[in-house]
Amino acid sequence: MRISIIGAGYVGLVTAACFSELGHEVHLVEIDREKAGAIDRGIAPFHEPGLEALLKKHLLRNLEITCEYQEIAGSECTFICVGTPSSPDGSADLCFIRSAAHSIGDALKGEGDPHTVVVKSTVPPGTTRTVVAPAVMEAFGRQDGLITFAMNPEFLREGRAVEDFFHPDRIVIGYSEDIACRKVAALYDGIDAPIVTSGLEAAEMIKYASNAFLAAKISFSNEIGNICKRLGIDVYEVMRGVGLDTRISPQFLNAGAGFGGSCFPKDVSALIHLAESIGEEPRILKSVMEVNEHQAFRMITMLESRIGDLCGKQVAVLGLAFKDNTDDVRDSRAIPVISALVDRGAVVRAFDPLANTAMARIFPGINYYGSAEEALTGADACLVMTEWPEFAQLEDEFDRMKSRVIIEGRRILTCKEKEGICW
Ligand code: UDX
Repeated sequence: MRISIIGAGYVGLVTAACFSELGHEVHLVEIDREKAGAIDRGIAPFHEPGLEALLKKHLLRNLEITCEYQEIAGSECTFICVGTPSSPDGSADLCFIRSAAHSIGDALKGEGDPHTVVVKSTVPPGTTRTVVAPAVMEAFGRQDGLITFAMNPEFLREGRAVEDFFHPDRIVIGYSEDIACRKVAALYDGIDAPIVTSGLEAAEMIKYASNAFLAAKISFSNEIGNICKRLGIDVYEVMRGVGLDTRISPQFLNAGAGFGGSCFPKDVSALIHLAESIGEEPRILKSVMEVNEHQAFRMITMLESRIGDLCGKQVAVLGLAFKDNTDDVRDSRAIPVISALVDRGAVVRAFDPLANTAMARIFPGINYYGSAEEALTGADACLVMTEWPEFAQLEDEFDRMKSRVIIEGRRILTCKEKEGICW
């Protein structure tokens, strides 16, 4: 099928590369010329295993990147994959969605063939029907039934996005006209996964509810972990026993410094805002966020209880990315921790295998090192903020510290004399 994808961010670029691997002819529209130029040369703007290999394989064949919306004419489907960032009040900001919808309608003006507009961005329930469809139709200018709409949320994890695309647990398609559903389902031919069909609004809500539930599992594990620590119980032993109940599942029960990333914090906040705006008090969702915020400060409180006043102390922070295997620092738990260290006058010695450059944009004034060993040299204490597997190999490197105070926010170290945030 000939398809178009709007937005070469994480979701759009991975989706474009993977659909081209499935044999479709893909036109990726990215209005940022510099970004589009780099992608055109086969360079992904972020670290994602397997992505550049797919770009190199398909770019001169069935994948084209362009800055022009006009290129979508002639496609059967257009996916909207633009960002939906948080507004200051926590709600989802739909400005990029609106402008993409308008530009799609405008670009399709002269078309005489049926076209399906598919929303892949995470959007509050009702957005496809009441924001996207009217904006497309207004710019398109005709009500001849040629354009149909669908909502097809993504469940891609950063660092495993390509693998997740080809091996999803399910494919969700929300639709109002049968033809739209059939077209989207046909695009995934060859992928072995159940297809869940629903109304447009239900599909939008499936995405929010899934992310909120996963975030809730993490906050729940963190709360149990905090209680376990006081009782001298290992929360990881506990959650292993809990997770083997098939009604619960072992995943997303790892207690620690809390969740970060581009999705969980943003999506839970948007759902809270949505609930409040319709007169519902989202008690659990608010607690999920509260526990998450609290975990970062728990790292600082623990550190102060071990080494006292932080002013002038050298504190190594190992791990800056919001999780391992990515250079993404969006909403990383290292951010509130570094912020609190800086506020207290500590000297921060940071290291991440991939994310030093990204974090330097947020905290240009702290010290960055090329290895854990260098960051640890002379440090009064060390905080581990990301579950990088290579941190498990660290042992003698800790001997370079002035005093061996090691607090891990992720259960990853194997060295002696360390302490976990909630174990
Ligand atoms: C998430 C969802 O998993 C994905 O389905 C959605 O499409 C986008 O958001 P991602 O943001 O890539 O994916 O990260 P994920 O692997 O889910 O981890 C999110 C955060 O939770 C990380 O900061 C991670 O360290 C933390 N986490 C995860 C825990 O603290 N404990 C766990 O048990 C699992």
